Amino acid sequence: MNAAYERYRALIEDALPRALPEDAGFAAAITKAARYSLLAGGKRLRPVLVLAAAQACGGDLDEALPAACAFEMVHTYSLIHDDLPAMDDDVLRRGRPTNHVVYGEAMAILAGDALLTHAFAHMSRAALAYPEHAARHLRALLRLGQAAGLTGMVAGQALDVLCEKQGADPARAEDQLRFIHENKTAAMIRGALLCGAEIAGAPQARLAALSAYGTALGLAFQVADDILDETATTEQMGKTVGKDEREGKLTFVALYGLDGAKKRLQSLTEEAVQAVGSADADGFFAGLARELLVRRN
Ligand code: IPE
Ligand code: IPE
Ligand code: MG
Ligand code: MG
Ligand code: MG
Repeated sequence: MNAAYERYRALIEDALPRALPEDAGFAAAITKAARYSLLAGGKRLRPVLVLAAAQACGGDLDEALPAACAFEMVHTYSLIHDDLPAMDDDVLRRGRPTNHVVYGEAMAILAGDALLTHAFAHMSRAALAYPEHAARHLRALLRLGQAAGLTGMVAGQALDVLCEKQGADPARAEDQLRFIHENKTAAMIRGALLCGAEIAGAPQARLAALSAYGTALGLAFQVADDILDETATTEQMGKTVGKDEREGKLTFVALYGLDGAKKRLQSLTEEAVQAVGSADADGFFAGLARELLVRRN
């Protein structure tokens, strides 16, 4: 990734280990399980977006850092639960055995619960440290809640699972796929941008531009994930590939074929670049969309 991305990522990698309690006493086992997945690397896209949006809107990176960590906690929880036997039943994530393979299903469920809950506690503590910006931080917390729950990621994951278990409804498959992608993936990506912008006190026009960019980038990101599940190797991705087709998942590739998916990825990337327009003074967001277009993991 480009140098600005790597600078944001370094701030996040530095902050994340300190954002969770140490594993000690009777809570040691569950804390260790939560730390195992959170500190396993990954692209850190969502927290990078929190920081980049805060900076682009004139905010302070230190003030936005707890929110960036919170987005990564919620994202990591979603991956731990996504990999459970009851969901995608995967054994490899971020190049390591999945959480439930190492710690067992009960601990993996609890590690996800812990990360989700701790994210809100962590952000709330940061909000109290900036009483002069209390309303901004409250709006940022709302953005995370909206992106993660029944109006976002969880709703998308639920329809994803239902479509796999019961089969998609042929008459509505396109709408269902759009809902799945918008919610399970784009909501957290858009939410991260809006969260960073809220902490910086961004005006409405800025929020609207970042929101449109985030939706297009988030949809592109999941289309690319669906493509890579067909075309990449397990080693490259750090997770088992090739399962979507075998399990009959409703994916962009399943519905429109590999070529259709590649075309859609192109057009969504252009849409993202157009949408961010003047909210992108130094070109970071347009550059990121173009880099993600050709991502290999
Ligand atoms: C994986 O997200 C789940 C999807 C939304 C496709 P990432 O591809 O961002 O996973 P990490 O965080 O880099 O491991
Ligand atoms: C999951 O989508 C998106 C989440 C909210 C976790 P996938 O099931 O396609 O993600 P991967 O391919 O396992 O990372
Ligand atoms: Mg899944
Ligand atoms: Mg999965
Ligand atoms: Mg996938």
